[in-house]
Amino acid sequence: MKMPIKLNKSGWPGLVTSWLPTADDPRNLRQPQITSDAFTQAVSVFKFGTTFKTTQKARFPQTVNLLGQLAFDHPPVVLDVGASDGITSLHVMQNVPFKTYYLTDLNPAVWHTTAGGRTTFYTPDGQPILIVSDRLVVYSDFADSHPLLRRWANQMFESSPEFKPEFKKIDLINPAVLDYSPNIVVQQHSIFDRWPGGSADLVIAANILNRSYFSDGQLVQAAENLLAVLNQNGVLAIIDSRNIEKSTLFRKTATGLTVLNQINGGTEIHQLLLDALI
Ligand SMILES: C[S@@+](CC[C@H](N)C(=O)[O-])C[C@H]1O[C@@H](n2cnc3c(N)ncnc32)[C@H](O)[C@@H]1O
Repeated sequence: MKMPIKLNKSGWPGLVTSWLPTADDPRNLRQPQITSDAFTQAVSVFKFGTTFKTTQKARFPQTVNLLGQLAFDHPPVVLDVGASDGITSLHVMQNVPFKTYYLTDLNPAVWHTTAGGRTTFYTPDGQPILIVSDRLVVYSDFADSHPLLRRWANQMFESSPEFKPEFKKIDLINPAVLDYSPNIVVQQHSIFDRWPGGSADLVIAANILNRSYFSDGQLVQAAENLLAVLNQNGVLAIIDSRNIEKSTLFRKTATGLTVLNQINGGTEIHQLLLDALI
């Protein structure tokens, strides 16, 4: 059962937070001097629809090692989808010299306002997704939760302020990533749309294309979109390192896809994609 209400870690003693569901305080993102690690922790609290923005540094080292060994005949154009704050993409950037690195996510920014001790965060299209007080962090995804929690969360969201364009915006890309290279381009993009930014030599989808988030039909649709972006001989890397690191590197050929390499037997959607896309 979902837990839409968590304790705000910054508002309780450690003894309490070690026993109950807690979240870091996403209001930390408003601090101009926030460290890179604290930034990633705060971004990881957000959940948009069914997907958390959870990420961490160097999250799939074995796959990065494989990507670093790929022989491109020119520095590749990279498209990284669902990149969250980009901190794990930074590990790829440091190991794969690139021409342009498109760092993309459906939600690369949030808006917020504070009233009555509560800060409400909004999606780019103005939907309230998170309410934070000194004590609590409340998620809008409360439909399948305990009836009492559902009623409590629902009341909080019903009384949250209507979105206004003048609310303050916070970019969710880690400043440490943007400092790495002038050839990083941040763009809002959904995996369910065709990428409008030209072709790529390497497409990376890490910890996004899995069956906990999407149906098989959606996974195939997203993979078709990603494949359409790739140049001939380009590489599509599907990675799932939520528990054990698993990944599949596909090469685009004239007739479809071949498996170039894999880590720990490949991702759970490895066979689904081979059956659907060849
Ligand atoms: C679990 S995070 C993975 C972040 C990073 N790639 C990693 O491996 O640590 C999933 C990300 O996918 C993004 N996302 C969710 N739905 C998406 C969609 N339809 N298109 C693009 N990104 C999406 C979320 O905003 C979130 O940042």
